[in-house]
Amino acid sequence: MNLYPNLFSPIKIKGLNLSNRITMAPMYVGYADAEGKVTELVLDHYKKMGASGASLIVVENMCIDPSGLGAPFMLRVDKDEYIDGLKKISDTIHNEGAYAFAQINHAGRYAFMRDRIAPSPVKVWDVTPREMTVNEIKFMIERYADAALRIKKAGFDGVELHGGTGYLLSQFVSPRLNKRTDEYGGSLEARMRFPIEVLEAVRKKVGEEYPVGYRLLADELYPGGLTLDEAVVFAKTYAEKGIDYLSVMAGTHESFKMPPYVEMERNEGYMVPFAKAIKKALPETVIIAAGRIQTPQYADKVIKDKEADLIGLARVLFSDPLWPKKAKGEIAEPIVACNPSCSQCMDMIMKGKRPYCSQWSKKERQDFIKKIEGK
Ligand SMILES: Cc1cc2nc3c(=O)[nH]c(=O)nc-3n(C[C@H](O)[C@H](O)[C@H](O)COP(=O)(O)O)c2cc1C
Repeated sequence: MNLYPNLFSPIKIKGLNLSNRITMAPMYVGYADAEGKVTELVLDHYKKMGASGASLIVVENMCIDPSGLGAPFMLRVDKDEYIDGLKKISDTIHNEGAYAFAQINHAGRYAFMRDRIAPSPVKVWDVTPREMTVNEIKFMIERYADAALRIKKAGFDGVELHGGTGYLLSQFVSPRLNKRTDEYGGSLEARMRFPIEVLEAVRKKVGEEYPVGYRLLADELYPGGLTLDEAVVFAKTYAEKGIDYLSVMAGTHESFKMPPYVEMERNEGYMVPFAKAIKKALPETVIIAAGRIQTPQYADKVIKDKEADLIGLARVLFSDPLWPKKAKGEIAEPIVACNPSCSQCMDMIMKGKRPYCSQWSKKERQDFIKKIEGK
């Protein structure tokens, strides 16, 4: 018996027929090597995710240009030499029966190095980034497009542009972070120009038929930052330009640690209200909602109530890679819930360590540690 008929109903993204509404939301785990190449650890991880029963796996953000490296062990897609390794990820996921997308990113003012570029020199913690020249902006637009084409060549079924978490694309849209006085800053129309030109350049390279999604920052949740009303205008414009889905999130690295965010983040479906607002404004666009969607009951209701079309599980799937199969009743065991008071995965990543989940069994943790220590 299908207990969750909405969650386990099909949906199309462009030419792809997804068998259910469950996706893996991109989650950087830093299992690549120091050169950004695919390792056995990466393949083991995405094999597990691909076998989860989710219909679509969106692989974690990958670096489009060395100036935009967001973390020490980030997967890279800034040169053709990475294509063969990335092909192993898409093959691995396909072999397990899921569609595979990859997210591409430039971290801008959140880059890992101290020498950073951004729309404007707005200080982040103790670093002030350098303002990008117009030539650098034009160059970076092409870097996104080249990276998207490499993703296609690597066998992925679609590409997702990372406009969330306060990274470069969203930095341009933000009134707090974009203080430019040229054609890329000022009015909302001008602030949207960079992500729009990126989408146009990506489309030219990958073609009209190739699925292109966007991780949308719906609200910076930071004083003076981008708010939902402007994000809705941006989302509408992006939909008109032909984006195939919007994966909605809220907050940036600067708001994540603020007490109201920490409080909000404990709640099931904490970012669903943002997805719902975008869905209401854009009923024809495929919308993904994420944020501690812990129970299939709740996930089913999100779909049923048309708050979103798909759900995205990140930590929730990391905690229990069998969540979709258990929800479907294929495995008669309780779901191992992500602990809302735990931030171990994020904390380990921030320290440059390869994360494991506090909810894994002792054996799973020991096996993982053995693997990373090469024993
Ligand atoms: C460790 C970690 C890494 C993440 N990496 C990414 C990423 O690469 N790209 C992205 O768009 N979101 C990223 N996210 C955000 C998730 O996609 C997701 O929106 C968020 O964690 C809420 O879903 P969850 O409660 O199921 O984890 C990350 C989150 C965590 C905790």
